[in-house]
Amino acid sequence: MRKNSNILPLIFIIIPLLWILFISSSSASVIYDGKSLIINGQRRILISGSIHYPRSTPQMWPDLIKKAKDGGLDVIQTYVFWNGHEPSQGNYYFEERYDLVKFIKLIHQAGLYVHIRIGPFICAEWNFGGFPVWLKYVQGIEFRTDNGPFKAAMEKFTTKIVDMMKSENLFASQGGPIILSQIENEYGPVEWDIGAPGKAYTKWFSEMAVGLNTGVPWVMCKQETAPDPIIDTCNGFYCENFKPNKNYKPKMFTENWTGWYTAFGGAVPYRPVEDLAFSVARFIQNNGSFMNYYMFHGGTNFGRTGSGLFVATSYDYDAPIDEYGLIREPKWSHLRNMHKAIKQAEPALLSAYPTVSWPGKNLEVHVFQSKRYCAAFLANYDSENSATVTFWNKQYNLPAWSVSILPDCKTEVFNTAKVYGLRRHAKMIPVSSGSFPWQSYIEQTVSADDSDTFTNAGLLEQVDITRDSSDYLWYTSNVYIKSDEGFLKNGQYPFLNIMSAGHVLHVFVNGRLSGTVYGSLTDTRLSFSQGIKLVAGVNKISLLSVSVGLANVGTHFEWYKTGVLGPVTLNGLNEGTRDLTKQKWSYKVGLKGESLSIHTLAGSSSVEWIQGSLVAVKQPLTWYKTIFNEPTGNDPLALDMSTMGKGEIWVNGKSIGRHWPGYIAKGNCGNCNYAGLYNENKCLSDCGQPSQKWYHVPRSWLKPTGNLLVVFEEMGGDPSRISLVKRQL
Ligand code: GAL
Repeated sequence: MRKNSNILPLIFIIIPLLWILFISSSSASVIYDGKSLIINGQRRILISGSIHYPRSTPQMWPDLIKKAKDGGLDVIQTYVFWNGHEPSQGNYYFEERYDLVKFIKLIHQAGLYVHIRIGPFICAEWNFGGFPVWLKYVQGIEFRTDNGPFKAAMEKFTTKIVDMMKSENLFASQGGPIILSQIENEYGPVEWDIGAPGKAYTKWFSEMAVGLNTGVPWVMCKQETAPDPIIDTCNGFYCENFKPNKNYKPKMFTENWTGWYTAFGGAVPYRPVEDLAFSVARFIQNNGSFMNYYMFHGGTNFGRTGSGLFVATSYDYDAPIDEYGLIREPKWSHLRNMHKAIKQAEPALLSAYPTVSWPGKNLEVHVFQSKRYCAAFLANYDSENSATVTFWNKQYNLPAWSVSILPDCKTEVFNTAKVYGLRRHAKMIPVSSGSFPWQSYIEQTVSADDSDTFTNAGLLEQVDITRDSSDYLWYTSNVYIKSDEGFLKNGQYPFLNIMSAGHVLHVFVNGRLSGTVYGSLTDTRLSFSQGIKLVAGVNKISLLSVSVGLANVGTHFEWYKTGVLGPVTLNGLNEGTRDLTKQKWSYKVGLKGESLSIHTLAGSSSVEWIQGSLVAVKQPLTWYKTIFNEPTGNDPLALDMSTMGKGEIWVNGKSIGRHWPGYIAKGNCGNCNYAGLYNENKCLSDCGQPSQKWYHVPRSWLKPTGNLLVVFEEMGGDPSRISLVKRQL
């Protein structure tokens, strides 16, 4: 009796406590119906934006998240970057820019939700679509199909990420911020392409994902075969007419492209905010309840993370927050104003399905009316003419291609085409006067008889040899020429013809550069065909084949090839054409400077650098180094590389990415009229200019003084005019 009477008060405390715990954990639920997601019993219209954690630095994350929140977002969406997390099989990395848990916790602290797109195929213009390169060399593997080794690896990584999120209590079902997950990415077209094994794979990965019991819904984007309970979602520039495959699934827009990526050799795409806002408003008025901007902050493809679509180092994407973390105006403010209007209309939007009327040609009115609430969306789809609409005895002027939002059915608080925000453009302002004191070191060409090479009869695929440990692979071979045939004949030298799968090729004959050729964004293959001066006796042919990332999209993109695959022929000799394809070739992976790590402080002293007036200028295959101090202030920094050709840049041993200002943007930068259907080729800038001349140097990678800057230049450039600039609004 005594014992029990002691316990009793405790029971009165513990039981209610347990009850509260039960209520709070079970009420942190995410479910859905045909109207919307329902979080903790509450329906929501959710505005989301993509920020990819490895495309910025952890030091930038809090500010990016704050600017996203201030811009009216409820959710941050990110992919998970498998090849960053498992660089070699079984060795995991979750530090620095890959500190996924920290990123999600920061979002949680800011009071926002997370949509985690585990994939683990992610596309995203990311090297190999996010797959680690070692995966390609797993015995018997075939990517993204009903293949045992692939499914085992995919399940292992997906489970690892889900378990990691669970152990940190990050799912909403555990009180965390993650309200949604995604499995695979845009698998619909591939499934359609490959048929039965694709269907079997879909069935398998859907069951695998659901079996992981995250307690929050899964989505699959661009795949209408998504089985229950997985929600199929839409990606594109417009999704207003999208319908999920079941009427009890909410209408979700997982990627509304805020612009488009820049590729080396291409012009810089931008998407006017009027059109972007129009797309969002149309989606919401058509019963859309979850809308994500891809990207809200695009960021930077640091290192060698950009994919083999010639994807540039900048992944700015014309997003509302620019590559450097500054807000882009008027995009950011205009969208924020729209989000406010949508939030005002939210109770009405969630209380009813819209009734639609058509007061005139190209005019459409959506009314969400219930007992308590009313909101209206007035739309003009005419791409040329404005219109006047009478709604509830009041007239509204609608510019061409615009939607007005009336959160109370009376007051127009926002029109997608009426942009009042500041049209401020960020500027790049020089911070260093004079040029850096450069030193140079010339990388020697490799020849067939060099010691640390291996040989093979015939040409080999590049990534099979490099395993993508470097962009560079030397193919070298000797050509014997009888005394009288290597020279001018009828005014012509013998012709060397080389076919390569890509992406860039520098051809050296007897140690001298004969020419450089490269592929284009639409076709990475290339050919070299040129008269070359040969000497009697042995001639050294040295081909430096350069990859610019691995493909990230396409059915079985793991089978795409890179490098010199031939044929390689020499014609114009006495004997006619000599086929060099099957002869003995020597291979060397990477550059000497790479193997000595001369981009690092320790490694840079391992070679003899030249300084002063003898510094190499316009020399191919040249390394440059200098030391610089951090400019004062907090403005983001960049290097202006306009006078350079192509290569890679490191600051204090960290790669800020590939540079290629030598690739001049092709494209038509004519008038960009926002009204009318948008696509990625519609609005372009910087035609005739380098596709990318500025390269982001994160502040957090710098010390106040004595920073080591190393540039490897393949084609030949003038480093004396490389300068540091700061970005200001
Ligand atoms: C989508 C894909 C994204 C990204 C985008 C273009 O189709 O899902 O990952 O690649 O295209 O930026």
